[in-house]
Amino acid sequence: MEVTVIGCGYVGLVTATCLASIGHTVRGVENDPRKLRLLQECHCPIFEPGLQELMSEQCGSGQLRFTSDIKSSLEDAQVIFLAVGTPPRPDGMVEMCYLDAAAKELADALGGRTADGSLTIIVKSTVPPGTSRRLNEVFRQRTQSELHVVDNPEFLREGSAVKDFLEPDRIIIGGDNPEAFRIMRRLYDPIIKREENFLAMNWESAELTKYAANTMLAARISFMNEMSILCDSYGADIEDIRKGIGTDFRIGPWFLRAGCGYGGSCFPKDVAALEHISRSVAHESLFVQAIQTINRNQKRRFYDKLVAKLGRPIEGAQIAVWGLAFKADTDDIRESPAIDIIGYLLSAGAHVRATDPKAMDNMKQVFHDSIQWVVDPVSAAVGADAVALLTDWPQYSTLPFRKIAATMNRPIIVDGRNCLHRDIMRENGFQYYPLGRPAVESKVRVRSKT
Ligand code: UDX
Repeated sequence: MEVTVIGCGYVGLVTATCLASIGHTVRGVENDPRKLRLLQECHCPIFEPGLQELMSEQCGSGQLRFTSDIKSSLEDAQVIFLAVGTPPRPDGMVEMCYLDAAAKELADALGGRTADGSLTIIVKSTVPPGTSRRLNEVFRQRTQSELHVVDNPEFLREGSAVKDFLEPDRIIIGGDNPEAFRIMRRLYDPIIKREENFLAMNWESAELTKYAANTMLAARISFMNEMSILCDSYGADIEDIRKGIGTDFRIGPWFLRAGCGYGGSCFPKDVAALEHISRSVAHESLFVQAIQTINRNQKRRFYDKLVAKLGRPIEGAQIAVWGLAFKADTDDIRESPAIDIIGYLLSAGAHVRATDPKAMDNMKQVFHDSIQWVVDPVSAAVGADAVALLTDWPQYSTLPFRKIAATMNRPIIVDGRNCLHRDIMRENGFQYYPLGRPAVESKVRVRSKT
């Protein structure tokens, strides 16, 4: 099929590239000149495993092209994705101005179109319920083409977005027109493994499904974070509880890892948006508020634990921060717990030396020269009074811990992702503090400063 994708940010680019890889002819429209140049030179502007390789293949074969000219991109289009950002406003409301502007530009460009056949406009951006129905009306009034708007939420995790797109658990389509559902079924045909995983519903159900999915996942994490408080108080182990409940098939094992809080571009934004969506129909969602409060508190809890275990005043302490990205396998720092936690450390007068395999450049835009930047965790720990581990990069579990302990001022690690092995910590002489798990505590060796 002939596909146009408007907006080549994270979601748009993954969508465009993956659709090209399953045989569609795709044109991506991007109006940021710097990003467009990169795309036209076939450089992937974001770090996402597998995406650059797939892009190179599809650009090379001509299946995927990029332009800033929306009108020319629409010439033969059968389906058009709107994949522009819907970021949160400071009050948590969804900012619709980019989507509305893109929809207006699209409606103008479609104004004179006299193409045969119907056109399907797909809202890929995450939008509050009612948006796609409204856009459907707007497009119908403003264009002559026979067109239908559908909502098609994305469920792409950073770090595994290509796989998530090509092997989806389910594809959700919201709309009211059987022909539009058929077109969407054809579009996704190569990746639909089971018929029951293609779910057609009305616009509002599809739109709310996206918020419900992310809020449910965030709720599971916040629940486990709450449980980790009880574990710390009663001497239980949150990992045992995770296994204990995750093996109940009604609960399942996913998204039950306790830690220093969830972050990223979706969970915080979508949970906050659901609070607003509830409020706009005069419903105060205590549940959604609790998810957010627990997440906020969890970052502070991590900091408080570090301060409590430090064995010296936090003011003037040297803290090594391992991991800045909101999770492993991404350079994304949006809403990363590291931002709040480093903020607490700096406010208390600590010196921070930070490292991350991918996210340092992004974090430099936040903290500039108020912290020291080092390229690897071993150097970050030299002379440190404690390590704060904030991202679960797999390479952090196989570091030369003996060497690290020997160079630290105090061999203390507070593990905000529960990703290090307790026995290895013990063998290497660390004071080790995970969250909601028993600590490893031996006599602290303090290096004398000469
Ligand atoms: C999420 C959704 O999973 C995806 O479907 C949606 O479309 C976009 O938002 P993403 O933000 O890429 O994806 O990351 P995800 O892997 O879901 O993790 C989000 C946050 O939760 C991270 O900070 C992660 O560290 C944290 N997390 C995840 C936990 O704290 N515990 C867990 O068990 C799982």
